[in-house]
Amino acid sequence: MSKRNILITGGAGFIGSHVVRLFVNKYPDYNIVNLDKLTYAGNLANLKDIENCPNYTFVRADIADLDTIRAIVSSHKIDGIIHLAAESHVDRSIKDPFTFARTNVMGTLALLQAAKEYWETLPEKFGGKMFYHISTDEVYGALELTHPEGLESPFATTASSSDHHLAFGTEFFLETTKYNPHSPYSASKASSDHFVRAYHDTYGMPTIVTNCSNNYGPYQFPEKLIPLFINNIRHRKPLPVYGKGENVRDWLFVEDHARAIDLIFHKGKIADTYNIGGFNEWKNIDLIKVIIKTVDRLLGNPEGSSENLITYVTDRAGHDLRYAIDSRKLQRELGWEPSLQFEEGIERTVRWYLDNQEWMDNITSGEYEKYYDDMYLNR
Ligand code: NAD
Ligand code: DAU
Repeated sequence: MSKRNILITGGAGFIGSHVVRLFVNKYPDYNIVNLDKLTYAGNLANLKDIENCPNYTFVRADIADLDTIRAIVSSHKIDGIIHLAAESHVDRSIKDPFTFARTNVMGTLALLQAAKEYWETLPEKFGGKMFYHISTDEVYGALELTHPEGLESPFATTASSSDHHLAFGTEFFLETTKYNPHSPYSASKASSDHFVRAYHDTYGMPTIVTNCSNNYGPYQFPEKLIPLFINNIRHRKPLPVYGKGENVRDWLFVEDHARAIDLIFHKGKIADTYNIGGFNEWKNIDLIKVIIKTVDRLLGNPEGSSENLITYVTDRAGHDLRYAIDSRKLQRELGWEPSLQFEEGIERTVRWYLDNQEWMDNITSGEYEKYYDDMYLNR
């Protein structure tokens, strides 16, 4: 295997930490540089197990700081970039859209520019280089919920879920679906995707964009639905369900996303787009009941007894009704599919949070309390 110097941005966050771990362990000949600003969402405890590996370096920096990024890219002789750093939480983007534009748009632009400038100084220029941008299904907008009770999913044979093969509508996001973002978060991600494609089309930079559905698994910051609810059940706190709990999301285990990123980084077609999804749609309220049952069982409570914590609250502004990804292109062209049955993924996830209470307690002390009260109690 050839030696490579890979820059992974946002590697101290949820998905980034799984990608860094996979690359550090799988590719001992690669130098993996993890660049992260360590915002509230970045946590080096997510990478304790690999922090002393000889092929791993951590650099604290802001992707929007062009001069610093230029220096990092050239001093580490970076030849591949996997870009995950972002402000990622929709509710925060509603309160503070400017931070999202700064990091997600200007930060992505600074990274593109720094890579372009450095690569153009090399004899081989863009040869053997890759700028891989991680995006989201939210840029496509929202789908109709034409079948609120669910119908048999057309992806049932390939679904990652064993006894839950439902789709809540007949339409799915394809790689060709027109962008139609609704939240400041998804608008900023859409804008960054356009810049990435523009750097290919204008300067010939080798780029790839992938759009993934909702991830779940260990190390997710507890502002997101699944870890928030697991932690609240443990502390007997209310479970704030937005609106009627009827919104639909397509859930993918985070390690399956990391595997897809590895495959696409090495085998994906330059200038192409791949959707990544779980073939695994759930209505929020049904998913919440699965989480409750699992946490109750593992804590030794009667299954379902924590349902009395469910509290319906004011809906999220502009709340997208349904996301559902068709990722058969990735399956067809590169042979990827989700590896984990959803039931197994949820069981592993709940167990991980209950077994790692210290990790959770460390990040939910101090600043988090203020955030939580502001976001959920004062809605
Ligand atoms: P996260 O919020 O857990 O982590 C983001 C990381 O980026 C943190 O470590 C943070 O410190 C870092 N960061 C933020 N601003 C930065 C800046 N200015 N400079 C350098 N680092 C900065 O996010 P996540 O859920 O792991 O998402 C990672 C990426 O995947 C994002 O681009 C997101 O849009 C995308 N994505 C997420 C999901 C999901 O379900 N979580 C699904 C599809 C796509
Ligand atoms: O689809 C991919 C996206 O998934 C990523 O691009 C985002 O970075 C990621 O945050 C996630 O966005 P969502 O808004 O779908 O995830 P979240 O966990 O915030 O919410 C999931 C669903 O649960 C959504 O319909 C809102 C609802 N919800 C969420 C929270 C935090 C609640 O009902 N109550 C809550 O307290």
